[in-house]
Amino acid sequence: MSEQTRLLTPEAEHVAYAAMMLAKGRLVAMPTETVYGLAADARNAQAVAGIYAAKGRPSFNPLIVHAPDLATAETIGIFDASARRLADAFWPGALTLVVPLRHDAGIASLVTAGLDTVAIRVPAHPVAQDLLHAFGGVVAAPSANPSGRISPTSASHVMAGLAGKLAAVLDAGPSPVGVESTIIGWQQGTPRLLRPGGIPAEAIADCLGQPLAAPIADPDRPAAPGMLSSHYAPGAPVRLNADHAKAGEFLIGFGPVAGDISLSPTGDLVEAAARLFDALHRADAAGRPIAIAPIPDHGMGRAINDRLRRAAAPR
Ligand code: TXA
Ligand code: MG
Repeated sequence: MSEQTRLLTPEAEHVAYAAMMLAKGRLVAMPTETVYGLAADARNAQAVAGIYAAKGRPSFNPLIVHAPDLATAETIGIFDASARRLADAFWPGALTLVVPLRHDAGIASLVTAGLDTVAIRVPAHPVAQDLLHAFGGVVAAPSANPSGRISPTSASHVMAGLAGKLAAVLDAGPSPVGVESTIIGWQQGTPRLLRPGGIPAEAIADCLGQPLAAPIADPDRPAAPGMLSSHYAPGAPVRLNADHAKAGEFLIGFGPVAGDISLSPTGDLVEAAARLFDALHRADAAGRPIAIAPIPDHGMGRAINDRLRRAAAPR
């Protein structure tokens, strides 16, 4: 089914229109500081089902619930001292916490894929905050891209991938962080890094005063199911750790490796994260095999390398 997708600016009347669409069970692309999200009313099962249909998501991976503040988040999930400590330190921001679900919160079971836990984030982006307040509820939102493809950090990325499949896109310019949120969950009482992302794992470990463990591997029940296999994939093949372009390749540079375009000529990992997905979209548009310079694996580099390994994974 195709519909007219309205491109909206973040002024109050447009935000109100987007909130009305959410209330009607329609899909709206919402800018956040990490990436653009494809939002639906988290309490409306049919609306949430629409997210999976629009993305062409093959299986029902659980989604992140976006709340305007910690008080609202606590009506949906159960926060122990450790979870509250992280929420106090990093919310609003690029951190998602997987906590026990309050079953009486009315969250559609498709959001959690039937799990007893729920992933919750309080986004910092002012337009996401405006939309959540105007809507007055909570929204489920994965990244606003077709399943398996490059995540969107601009309204034009969203339109290129999903136009006709959602009611509206709120255009607030490029997403400042540029990679998805860091996901932390607790298994056997231990905090674990389920997905590296916009808040460096080192900062989270510092806040908790303990190192983050790896998720417990269980092939039947992945800790963060959406994290498996090929993802963020451009149309063309991707070669990592390249210090020069081979014949015909489009080289994405970093630091001393100049490339056709650079994630950060000065070797700044925060800048590189912010430019990552746009660089992949541009390289993809060039229609040539893609090579990418080595990226140091600390701080934001960990999230960048995670996305690059998936972009390069066999499909
Ligand atoms: O920055 C972000 O996190 C963006 C913006 C839009 O907020 N959203 C995002 O959502 O990246 P998505 O759907 O692409 O990724 C959600 C991740 C998946 O890896 C999923 O498996 C994991 O969160 N997840 C969700 N609920 C979970 C749960 N109850 N337990 C474990 N992992 C969960
Ligand atoms: Mg995604």
